[in-house]
Amino acid sequence: RPRVLSGIQPTADSFHLGNYLGALREWVTLQREFDAFYCVVDLHAITVAQDPAELRRRTRVSAAQLLALGIDPDRSALFVQSHVPEHAQLSWVLECLTGFGEAGRMTQFKDKSTRQDADHVSVGLFTYPILQAADILVYQANAVPVGEDQRQHLELTRNLAQRFNARFGSTFTLPEPKIPQETAKIFDLQDPTAKMSKSVPAGVVELMEDPKRSAKKIRSAVTDNEREIRYDPEAKAGVSNLLVIYSALTGRAVSELEAEYAGRGYGDLKKDLGEVVVEFVTPFQDQVRGYLDDPAELDKILGKGAEKARSVAAETLRSVYDRIGFLPSM
Ligand code: TYM
Repeated sequence: RPRVLSGIQPTADSFHLGNYLGALREWVTLQREFDAFYCVVDLHAITVAQDPAELRRRTRVSAAQLLALGIDPDRSALFVQSHVPEHAQLSWVLECLTGFGEAGRMTQFKDKSTRQDADHVSVGLFTYPILQAADILVYQANAVPVGEDQRQHLELTRNLAQRFNARFGSTFTLPEPKIPQETAKIFDLQDPTAKMSKSVPAGVVELMEDPKRSAKKIRSAVTDNEREIRYDPEAKAGVSNLLVIYSALTGRAVSELEAEYAGRGYGDLKKDLGEVVVEFVTPFQDQVRGYLDDPAELDKILGKGAEKARSVAAETLRSVYDRIGFLPSM
């Protein structure tokens, strides 16, 4: 069966609606047709300052959320990145094939690093995309479900795979990004021209927050001065974002929603979408709590996932080391 891999950072106490609609929803669907590897990328999380107790908690909360969203540990290997040392080992090899300038052109690094002076930006943040390439290539993944913001990292991954294959012989599968059509980029509710991301709380719907708070954030979403409920991302970014979220969570077409809300006010749309979100997150949160109530069972699931992941990753690493010219260890 073809393989799929994706990862998510445990850098917050909750995933947000952008993570879910841009990527995680697709993770759940793809596990039916693919041999799936899904990881909580704790190595990536330490590229910025992290508190150890917090990281430990957030890693478990992340795994619990993935299970509650429908990742089935009997089908998919659900694991923690640091449990599979081959990611870091392959990353080193790929770093040695990456140009310094090439890594410097990664826009996420540029965005994150220009906010701070050079000595507060870690070298790990710089090499972050190369570790991501290793995550993908070590499983020979065919498909990688991610949101739009990961497109450039996927291009780098493909370039590195091609470069390795050209230099040392065909070794890596070239992975295809799977970026959803409508929900590739969910926007911030307070600034609908910016991506929804954890840095701006009022504009971010967190899956684990009090559902009433989510509904309130949606009611306060920034829209425009017209009255028409119409999908037009250029002229009406806020309303269009709400329609996309509504459509994705209910499975109803945007055009159908436009017809239903014709002649009605933004208040109606926001109130109804708030209810849709509450109905989605309430049972989800109950499930997450269930998994968190039994950390031993959760750790067992992650242990089993890591074991499966390691068997595949070790095989790739062996062949990489051999092709590079490292002596076999006896
Ligand atoms: P991360 O942890 O920031 O986000 C996880 C996933 O959520 C998607 N996403 C969004 N999609 C739509 N709209 C948004 N506003 C939005 N915000 C986030 C992201 O595109 C991502 O798919 N570098 C990755 C983690 C990673 C990874 C990997 C992914 C590490 N190794 C290997 C794929 C394969 C990241 O920081 O995602």
